[in-house]
Amino acid sequence: MSVPVITIADLADHVGEEVTLKGWVYNWRKKGKLRFIILRDGFGYLQCVVFRPEVDESVWEAAVALTQESSVEITGIVAADERAPGGYELKVTGIVPVQIAPEYPLGKKEHGVDFLLNHRHLWLRSKRPHAILRVRSELEQAIRDFFYSRRFTLIDSPILTPAACEGTSTLFETPYFGDTAYLSQSGQLYLEPAAAAFGRVYCFGPTFRAEKSKTRRHLTEFWMVEPEVAWLQFDGLLDLIEEFVSEIVSRVLDRCSEELDRLERDVSKVEPATRRPYPRLDYGDAVRILKEQGYDIEFGDDFGGDEETALAALHDRPVLVTRYPTEAKAFYMQPDPDDPTRALAVDALAPEGYGEIIGGSERIGSLELLEQRIAEHGLPREAFEWYLDVRRYGGFPHSGFGMGIERCTAWICGLHHAREAIPYPRTINRLYP
Ligand code: 4AD
Ligand code: MG
Repeated sequence: MSVPVITIADLADHVGEEVTLKGWVYNWRKKGKLRFIILRDGFGYLQCVVFRPEVDESVWEAAVALTQESSVEITGIVAADERAPGGYELKVTGIVPVQIAPEYPLGKKEHGVDFLLNHRHLWLRSKRPHAILRVRSELEQAIRDFFYSRRFTLIDSPILTPAACEGTSTLFETPYFGDTAYLSQSGQLYLEPAAAAFGRVYCFGPTFRAEKSKTRRHLTEFWMVEPEVAWLQFDGLLDLIEEFVSEIVSRVLDRCSEELDRLERDVSKVEPATRRPYPRLDYGDAVRILKEQGYDIEFGDDFGGDEETALAALHDRPVLVTRYPTEAKAFYMQPDPDDPTRALAVDALAPEGYGEIIGGSERIGSLELLEQRIAEHGLPREAFEWYLDVRRYGGFPHSGFGMGIERCTAWICGLHHAREAIPYPRTINRLYP
């Protein structure tokens, strides 16, 4: 009978049996006639024990030759052992080295963050990035399930586009067969027509901003999830944001406790976000509060990172700041019918200084007003004709929002910088690896 090949996640089903695992040497140590190999296979860690008197001399020699991050197939008997990390141990019977690695650049000593980011392709194997990216993966799955269960249709929006969505100052240009194309800043403009076709839609993909800022919240390439809903108006949008954030955060806290533990995240700081309602704060009140706190801010200004942090610090869960000045916000946002100087716009600010994780709005419904706003923003009218069609042929109220995955992951995991929340970060000074 051949020995089954399993992963570390499957150990519980094989106690007392002989199995083979394929992976990499995370670490090893020796003690007399014993050699302990900590095997890593992506699913977990397993202590493999080689006892010289009980194995062929060739197996012992293979064990001794293994270096950190060598790839290897190890066969042995699974034993349940409460003292072992993870609760299991492998009593080794056979070792097949696959490749013996030379000295591994990520040693046990502390490395600077630049060194680590230059070795991101290897750093992914370490416990901290591994835990963070597992949380990110769970978050993305929670998001997809949220929308799937509510009958949203996934609409993949294009990356190469003819025009700006979120302002012309952060556009990446690329030559396009004698013309110019721009990397998408947001899929929103493409979702609005799709909302008229499918009712409820979302897109989820990479977006690009030529951000000159070097803050811990800004990446030049980040992933955004954007729902767009036909017939949804501003109050409904606020409810949707609250329902969405509370549900996906609950799911991640439920399913990633091991990872968050490894990251030493104080989850009691995140838990309040699983409970509704979320506080709502009118922009005018927000400015008043900031002034009282001594911030140099005037009605009409957009908030910077410090202001966002101050506003969020007043609450234990995300706060929804509403009705920003029309002038400070994007061209497509619906003005408040009661006060057109204000837009039906919302930002969700996460606690603990994580800042804006969501931006959204009701969209302009009227063709004339949208034409006027495109002109006021100096946008090329020709590039938006198709977008205006959404108002020409069966105009309808609709709303949507965008959430940055890295900022949300950074918040849930308690990371200082959003660059740790994406497998291969791109920032103003990083395009490698
Ligand atoms: O507020 P933003 O610019 O909104 C939009 O793009 C809308 N079109 C979304 C919509 O209504 N469909 O961006 C939305 C979110 C921000 O709240 C933030 O989480 C994230 O995207 N984000 C960034 N994340 C990392 N680095 C950057 N440079 C980011 N810019 C925005
Ligand atoms: Mg925004």
